[in-house]
Amino acid sequence: MGSTLNVGIVGVGNISQQYLEEFPKLPNLSLTAVADLDLDRAAAVARDQGVESMSVDALLADPRIHAVLNLTIPSAHTEIALRALDAGKHVYGEKPLALATADAAPVLARAAQAGLRVGSAPDTVLGTGIQTARALLDEGRIGSPVAAAVAWSAPGHELWHPSPAFYYQPGGGPLFDMGPYYLTSLVTFFGPVVRVSGAVGRSSRERTVATGPLAGTPIPVDVDTHVTAILEHANGVISTVTVSFEVWETRVPLFEVYGTGGSISVPDPNRFSDTVAIATASDRTWRDVPVSAGYADAGRGVGLADLARAIETGRPHRASGELAFHVLEIMESIIRSGTTHEVVTLTSTVERPDAVGFGARPESW
Ligand SMILES: NC(=O)c1ccc[n+]([C@@H]2O[C@H](COP(=O)([O-])OP(=O)(O)OC[C@H]3O[C@@H](n4cnc5c(N)ncnc54)[C@H](O)[C@@H]3O)[C@@H](O)[C@H]2O)c1
Repeated sequence: MGSTLNVGIVGVGNISQQYLEEFPKLPNLSLTAVADLDLDRAAAVARDQGVESMSVDALLADPRIHAVLNLTIPSAHTEIALRALDAGKHVYGEKPLALATADAAPVLARAAQAGLRVGSAPDTVLGTGIQTARALLDEGRIGSPVAAAVAWSAPGHELWHPSPAFYYQPGGGPLFDMGPYYLTSLVTFFGPVVRVSGAVGRSSRERTVATGPLAGTPIPVDVDTHVTAILEHANGVISTVTVSFEVWETRVPLFEVYGTGGSISVPDPNRFSDTVAIATASDRTWRDVPVSAGYADAGRGVGLADLARAIETGRPHRASGELAFHVLEIMESIIRSGTTHEVVTLTSTVERPDAVGFGARPESW
């Protein structure tokens, strides 16, 4: 075991619990302090974790902290990332990287200038589910990939999230919320996307908070709630993607990859380790595949642990700002195409992140 990255979390709302549960399992990360606009919330989490609660300013100024874990809502991602970098700290944030590529570009530029790292969720793609599917593809088990199909839907996150308003503001909607899991997986499988067409819409359904102290509060809807897209990858693969907050019941989610010699059933990319299945041309029968790649027993935070190890060994980290930027440009382009009815050619590109070997732990990989 090498060095430890001291981490300060900014934003300790709903998702922070999953990271906090994972920290003790990631020996190259050490939680130093937490901060939140909601001081009582930060104090309660700090007490629970046995760490310090601070103001955001104090956390950013604390010289013991090497990296900021940015778990704020999407509209705050850029501001916190830039402030963390200006304070000389690496930053790893929840998805999306920013509301728009115009906001994200200065984050990457400033990090490059300062020699600091930017990482971004989703790190679920480093788990055994997506990595095993990738290994099958890379081993040619379905021949050459031709296409992929994604369909994810839900009635809307207001049914379970206690403060869901941000899901209906820019940076939310089914595309910016769930798109990063699927699109990051697709880029992990097939490499960068070159062209995008989209169709987008929203119903007149009124949304209200369904649970918690805000129950009954109306939610303004300022995003598209049904999004469908065609992505052309540089390697010729075509992905079709539908994500929606408009579906009460369905028999999907669907995530499949089709090749010249078979199909792969890809597990939920919002989770780390569900089962992959394959059906080949020889017998066209689905069979579960044993795990063959990916960080073992992973949970949210493994991408930051991978980043910490990458700093130590001088290699690129996998859940990178550049990858998240490309995914952000894909999402932005889908909305643009859906609005202008034109095919959009992307300006960014990215290398496929390195595969994760079987059973690896981020602190030793
Ligand atoms: N909730 C989930 O299941 C889930 C899953 C995966 C990813 N995410 C992502 O995680 C992020 C946070 O989601 P959440 O559900 O935890 O939201 P949340 O509203 O429950 O928590 C966000 C927290 O950030 C704090 N905050 C907001 N702006 C801040 C600022 N400028 N400075 C300091 N603190 C600030 C809020 O007070 C709140 O405590 C989002 O980007 C979301 O897309 C959420």
